[in-house]
Amino acid sequence: MRTEQPKMIYLKDYQAPEYLIDETHLTFELFEDHSLVHAQLVMRRNPARGAGLPPLVLDGQQLELLSVSLADQPLSADDYQLDDSHLTLHPTSASFTLDTSVKIHPESNTALEGLYKSSGMFCTQCEAEGFRKITYYLDRPDVMSKFTTTVVAEQHRYPVLLSNGNPIASGPGEDGRHWATWEDPFMKPAYLFALVAGDLWCVEDSFRTQSGRDVALRIYVEPENIDKCQHAMNSLKKSMRWDEETYGREYDLDIFMIVAVNDFNMGAMENKGLNIFNSSAVLARAETATDAAHQRVEAIVAHEYFHNWSGNRVTCRDWFQLSLKEGFTVFRDAGFSSDMNSRTVKRIQDVAYLRTHQFAEDAGPMAHAVRPESFIEISNFYTLTVYEKGSEVVGMIHTLLGAEGFRKGSDLYFERHDGQAVTCDDFVKAMEDANGVDLTQFKRWYSQAGTPRLAVSESYDAAAKTYSLTFRQSCPQTPDKVEKLPFVIPVELGLLDSKGAGMALRLSGENAAQGTSRVISVTEAEQTFTFVDITEQPLPSLLRGFSAPVKLSFPYSRDQLMFLMQHDSDGFNRWDAGQQLAVQVLQELIAQHQQGQALVMDERLVTALGTVLADDSLDQAMVAEMLSLPGEAYLTEISEVADVEAIHAAREFARQQLADSLFDALWKRYQTNRSVSKATAYVAESEHFARRALQNIALSYLMLTHKPEVLAAAIEQFDSADNMTERLTALAVLVNSPFEAEKAQALAVFAENFKDNALVMDQWFSVQAGSPLPGGLERVKALMQHPAFNLKNPNKVRALVGAFAGQNLINFHAADGSGYRFLADLVIQLNGFNPQIASRQLAPLTRWRKYDSARQALMKGELERIRASGDLSSDVFEVVSKSLA
Ligand code: TRP
Ligand code: ZN
Repeated sequence: MRTEQPKMIYLKDYQAPEYLIDETHLTFELFEDHSLVHAQLVMRRNPARGAGLPPLVLDGQQLELLSVSLADQPLSADDYQLDDSHLTLHPTSASFTLDTSVKIHPESNTALEGLYKSSGMFCTQCEAEGFRKITYYLDRPDVMSKFTTTVVAEQHRYPVLLSNGNPIASGPGEDGRHWATWEDPFMKPAYLFALVAGDLWCVEDSFRTQSGRDVALRIYVEPENIDKCQHAMNSLKKSMRWDEETYGREYDLDIFMIVAVNDFNMGAMENKGLNIFNSSAVLARAETATDAAHQRVEAIVAHEYFHNWSGNRVTCRDWFQLSLKEGFTVFRDAGFSSDMNSRTVKRIQDVAYLRTHQFAEDAGPMAHAVRPESFIEISNFYTLTVYEKGSEVVGMIHTLLGAEGFRKGSDLYFERHDGQAVTCDDFVKAMEDANGVDLTQFKRWYSQAGTPRLAVSESYDAAAKTYSLTFRQSCPQTPDKVEKLPFVIPVELGLLDSKGAGMALRLSGENAAQGTSRVISVTEAEQTFTFVDITEQPLPSLLRGFSAPVKLSFPYSRDQLMFLMQHDSDGFNRWDAGQQLAVQVLQELIAQHQQGQALVMDERLVTALGTVLADDSLDQAMVAEMLSLPGEAYLTEISEVADVEAIHAAREFARQQLADSLFDALWKRYQTNRSVSKATAYVAESEHFARRALQNIALSYLMLTHKPEVLAAAIEQFDSADNMTERLTALAVLVNSPFEAEKAQALAVFAENFKDNALVMDQWFSVQAGSPLPGGLERVKALMQHPAFNLKNPNKVRALVGAFAGQNLINFHAADGSGYRFLADLVIQLNGFNPQIASRQLAPLTRWRKYDSARQALMKGELERIRASGDLSSDVFEVVSKSLA
């Protein structure tokens, strides 16, 4: 906890470090009631900072300093200055060694940052600024060092001792203890340091790189989970191969390890050669993990592995550049997932997520640029903007340069900056230099926050056979108050003729047409593009594949959207036309609800989705996506003022109408797919995901009809499914149904069967926390008393509190403010022991601007109450104070 007001840190104040650390030698002595860390740092003055020997200011927090020697001279208390976050020393020569010993308390570290214990094992999390809770250090990513680490611990409790790099020696010690030494030959910043000590088993495999080296692969887990590692191992090998084939990147050490831990603030961490994962991002097998969980494991394994190049070999100069590694690595893992599964479906899911959640962040009080200019607490900037929008920005460079040009750029980037700590500007410069292009204006995507709007209008001149599209871009004001200049917006588009075929695209001034789908760059506030030889009034298909993270508007009629749904050659835009149609229909229902009218739904939505459902030639995963109506959170995001009750009522009404009208088609699809599922062993592959996705969305619609044969089918699926995907959907439809006895029975059976599997119990909590039926808050409060719940475990908090406040909008936003009060109480509690989780759980309250004045007042009242609650972490302080500014 802080003693002074946290202060703002600015990118413009960046200065290179005064000193460098060439070598870092660490010895950890791990005990049950404390641990000792001995550090020997081989240091020198940074020549880039000139002559002179300024004070050496080391970062350190929550450390008990036992001894310190500078250049082999033991220091006494008058030789240095110590405060709660720094140790200041006074070197007398340009090169020296520094020895420190500190005592720390991993056994009582609940913040899960630095060295801590999870389920009896020791593990670390150092990104972004956790290493300073382990030893005194220059804890900043531009200080890179060669690490050697010795771990000493009790042999019986901690038979496995791991750190980064290669194992070089090990042996027995005194009093039943043993030790192991690891050496990492690559220079790295401290945030990539890792240590693990525990009673772990491992699954082993190996990978032969493209140059013929054999790499040992190991996934370490608690013994009872040894049967849940194969999917992660397969994913790892696929990732390694893919990065060689797609980016020419080969793995560089002789061993690559993943360790699964149960208590983890995020998904996973790319520590050099020793990735540490939330167990939810590693463990997966048919009986216990859904298809979505399998795909998440595959994506996170890939993401962390890809960081070995985009993040570790080339790292960030400072934390303002976080998107340099995160945006790029998300872009890389999305490319991988697209190649492993369906590219269009992956794109649909990513865009739906971005539009719902990143756009909301961009419109809220924490809005920031992909490369922020200031922060109080860097942990608050591991955001959807840095990750997902950052990936979109890299994706736009890919779109502008083409696959080959992009690869030339990434090759140059890795070659030029290998072993360095660099900036987003360096990344863009490599792209520019490799392709001979100027991306100066494009770089506004890194510095300007907010979601640009792009309003498009058309005009057709039949006599001249010309068709013009006029684009007007603007960007709303954000808290950073930066004046917004026009972005470079790549718009992929096509023009459909009256039969739905793509027309040849020739811009006025061009000699020849350039295909039927092409990318144009909108670079001005207002800009018109005129196509020639257009022999009939076309229908434009705009922003294909979501080629830029903007809010595009074009005055489509519902019939035109239905036409695009059927005929657009771009799969993403076929889905998006369906979403736009659904949004129009839902907004009409919302207005009816607000005016107290009886709800009457436009039949065209039924017709359109009925056509999709009847088409056996379509990819079933696409059908499932098209049947999914825009979520309440998305409808909230696109509202000026979100009417919680009207949105919920309208969407539920539409779902009921669709279920009733399309019953026969849904039932047929359900039965066909369920019978294939019954006859087929579980396979974690694309076409099987697709079949189950359609089966499950069909079941969730069908259940709304309350027909006895559907109830029987849900119970049958719940009882006899051989996999969690089918079982959990069956549980969810029962939980959301009025069949109280069947619901209670299913919940009880499920809990009894899976009580010993924490990750499955997380799903059991989530299904209930997310149920929109009345009484949500009471259910959540009761579940917090369940023996499987534990507030100290972030996965449990996310499963119950996160699912309630983030997904169960109708219950969380109860008009009496009870949901807000509950969340604020929780945040105050969490702030006391895990600031990162406290701050993240707070996000729903920061969205107050979207709601009516009564709810706004209640939400702000709770934020005020948190602010006044006393000892705030810098994490919570920053979010609360910006939200109330
Ligand atoms: N670099 C991690 C990633 O792959 C992010 C991360 C893991 C993290 N654990 C963390 C960030 C703890 C902040 C705090 O995306
Ligand atoms: Zn990452």
